Amino acid sequence: MLKNKHILLVVAGGIAAFKALDLIRRLRERGAEVTPVLTTSAEEFVTPLSISALSGNKVYRDLFDLTAEAEMGHIELSRAADLIVVAPATANIMAKMAQGLCDDLASTLLLATDKRVMVAPSMNVRMWEHAATQRNVATLKNDGVLFVGPNEGDMACGEYGPGRMAEPLEIVDAIERAFQTGPLSGKRILVTSGPTHEPIDPVRYIANRSSGAQGTAIAQALNALGAEVVFVTGPADIAPPSGVEVRKVQTAGEMLAEVEDALPCDAAIFAAAVADWHIDGASASKIKKQAGALPTLKFAENPDILAKVSKMGKGRPGLVIGFAAETDDVIAHAQAKRDRKGCDWIVANDVSPETGIMGGAENAVTVISDAGIDPWPRMTKKQVAVRLAQNIAKALEG
Ligand code: C5P
Repeated sequence: MLKNKHILLVVAGGIAAFKALDLIRRLRERGAEVTPVLTTSAEEFVTPLSISALSGNKVYRDLFDLTAEAEMGHIELSRAADLIVVAPATANIMAKMAQGLCDDLASTLLLATDKRVMVAPSMNVRMWEHAATQRNVATLKNDGVLFVGPNEGDMACGEYGPGRMAEPLEIVDAIERAFQTGPLSGKRILVTSGPTHEPIDPVRYIANRSSGAQGTAIAQALNALGAEVVFVTGPADIAPPSGVEVRKVQTAGEMLAEVEDALPCDAAIFAAAVADWHIDGASASKIKKQAGALPTLKFAENPDILAKVSKMGKGRPGLVIGFAAETDDVIAHAQAKRDRKGCDWIVANDVSPETGIMGGAENAVTVISDAGIDPWPRMTKKQVAVRLAQNIAKALEG
């Protein structure tokens, strides 16, 4: 719920501005008060009248509006809010924010505020991918600006890719998360999950049996304790949790790139079953069956994401947790793995087929850390996740 929360909603001029109407309704449904600010170009997409009617509030538009300035100055407006949300956030307004430009009411409010700011980017895929926009995104993230989306999909301009504004309900979820309190609030935690798919050719791939159940449950449990979770997942059977930032990947290489992009984080939990190898020189076209000739696959090693992050020195998350799925000598192998990879904790489990753990609902884990070897009783993967999240909260506190 967002009861008594005051959201200053800046609507910039993009085609997704029409979704701001629904966003206002959803925010009010949850008890928030919404003060809308429109840029001049936003008025080309939505009318001040409809925004005002839905928000039940005056719409602020002009930096030099004397009546508005007399009622509530722009500085006050930017400070009276609990959170400023820019939706849609165009490439232009993000560029202004990154540079500290203030040539209209919206950008002036954004520069004058001492409150947290969340942006929901919306733009053409090429504009989103442009080096300038990506530089601005990095600057804004570094300044502590919260991001929701953009999503990938069909765009109003007919192209496909990242750049679609997050849906109003996703934005509302992100706003609720921003207000969440709990032992992990203010902490940013990375979770990898699921299998990876390593292509042989465009239609065939090498995979493993990970369902993503444990990683998903961990992301959910961390989120429930108030953490901001970045969830990097391979193609898993289980749907990703809601309320977390989801980054979907296929291969180990892509997973590493997303993990590096998600840093810095306070903690990182590597629950993914990453393929150890990929096919060297995967074929760009489908390999044809030829009578009497079998294809030969040449393997090459994948990056060890856990080891890389554990040993990264500057910028290393304060707590790095790995998993060790073993079928024999579980503890000894897990201890050796912890030493080899350099992670802080390792969560070891026996995945022999008779345990039913791989792909099942239960898990029996032993947590190995500097504090020693801690065997947990068999419980559901959700219970493992909750206990692990509580332990993480304690470790980050101390
Ligand atoms: O070496 P092994 O695959 O058993 O290590 C398991 C742990 O290492 C898991 O936490 C897994 O997510 C992580 N890992 C990784 N990158 C790899 C292989 C494993 O992050 N390439």
